[in-house]
Amino acid sequence: MKIIRAKDYNDMSRKAANIISAQVIMKPNCVLGLATGGSPEGIYKQLIDWYNKGDIDFSEITTINLDEYKGLSRESEQSYWYFMHHHFFDHVNVRPQKINVPDGTNMNVEEECARYDHIIQAKGGIDLQLLGIGVDGHIGFNEPGAAFELGTHCVDLDESTIEANKRYFEKKEDVPRQAYTMGIKTIMQARKVLMVANGKNKADIIKEAFFGPVTPQVPASILQMHPDFTLIGDEEALSKI
Ligand code: PGA
Repeated sequence: MKIIRAKDYNDMSRKAANIISAQVIMKPNCVLGLATGGSPEGIYKQLIDWYNKGDIDFSEITTINLDEYKGLSRESEQSYWYFMHHHFFDHVNVRPQKINVPDGTNMNVEEECARYDHIIQAKGGIDLQLLGIGVDGHIGFNEPGAAFELGTHCVDLDESTIEANKRYFEKKEDVPRQAYTMGIKTIMQARKVLMVANGKNKADIIKEAFFGPVTPQVPASILQMHPDFTLIGDEEALSKI
């Protein structure tokens, strides 16, 4: 496990974008596992900036997003499909047919999970997986108690996750109660894992996840066992370690 201290959110975003950029330069047809949320937004902004300057080319990459709310369609502004297009895909030359996000409108759970796992496998696995971390230690939508050995599955969201994500919805009642998520087994199989964390509200969970026991109660703690895991945090998020 490697921990990189960043001065602030901008510095964290630039450092993480540099690592992603290096991955794309070293392997132009790489498979990037991508994440939504406030933590990675700055990374996407930075990557768009470098793309506009001609420094990076996304035309050959495949993207595989971590998760999607069950019940939300691509058109819904709160869907992760929408988030990714709005914050990243619409601004760079990633090919639409190489973008993968779980289909929140597929109500056949077994079929959707099998379809997504098959895509990941068929692409040869993930070269670099980008992650944020939830205040409850979730990665993707793998909430506390999630079995480490799962592939893509459908989860009931924790109350703390619904509380944290209600900022994107008009009211809390609108936050879907379920989501599709890539499983921890798949995340652990990624060849490289990069996590970004910022802000005071992440300080406790960062300490618990990476300096406490490895336990399904803190899903991110399993990353202590990953052979190539890098955490980039700002001063606030790393203030307790
Ligand atoms: P955030 O979410 O980046 O919006 O804090 C992280 C997460 O829930 O994984």
